[in-house]
Amino acid sequence: MFTRMQDGTPEDWAVIGAAHKEHFYKTPAHLMDMLRSLKNITAGFACDQLQHSLMTGTLARRDDATDEEVAIALLHDVGKSVNIPNHGPIAAELLRPYVSDDAYHVIYNHQHFQGKFYYTFMGENPNMRDDFTEKSWYGLAVKLVDRWDAPAFDPEFEVDSLESFEPLLQKIFSQPGRVL
Ligand SMILES: [Fe+2]
Repeated sequence: MFTRMQDGTPEDWAVIGAAHKEHFYKTPAHLMDMLRSLKNITAGFACDQLQHSLMTGTLARRDDATDEEVAIALLHDVGKSVNIPNHGPIAAELLRPYVSDDAYHVIYNHQHFQGKFYYTFMGENPNMRDDFTEKSWYGLAVKLVDRWDAPAFDPEFEVDSLESFEPLLQKIFSQPGRVL
């Protein structure tokens, strides 16, 4: 096996290509680990961010949401495991190869939709969601935030377990994903 890419041979690349394939299917396990890590982030809310994510996913599931809607409800804040201020864009880019363009934009912008409920307390415009009313994904963003995300800060709510969502994550994310 080469030690400088400049020296690569077809045989080297056949080995590397085959070894890469096993990693295509590890995305669900990585996402589960990232969700688990949210247990360590409370950030002033009444419940930790794992409980919040599970409650958001559970509310979506009990609201007859589609598989993709349940998945993005569960994962919309997974970017907080990396960085809180940019968590929307981080999660959106992370999930983008596996979800629809509408779902991508919902995750990317969901904080501005939540802003309706708190931006005024931060000196910001609480109506920023109005900038997106013409977008194809506006209705989904409203549904995700108003029905599942914003009400999901109850530490006493009996959420579905993280493991109960694993088959769904396997179904959507256990694939190479589209190339961006
Ligand atoms: Fe959230």
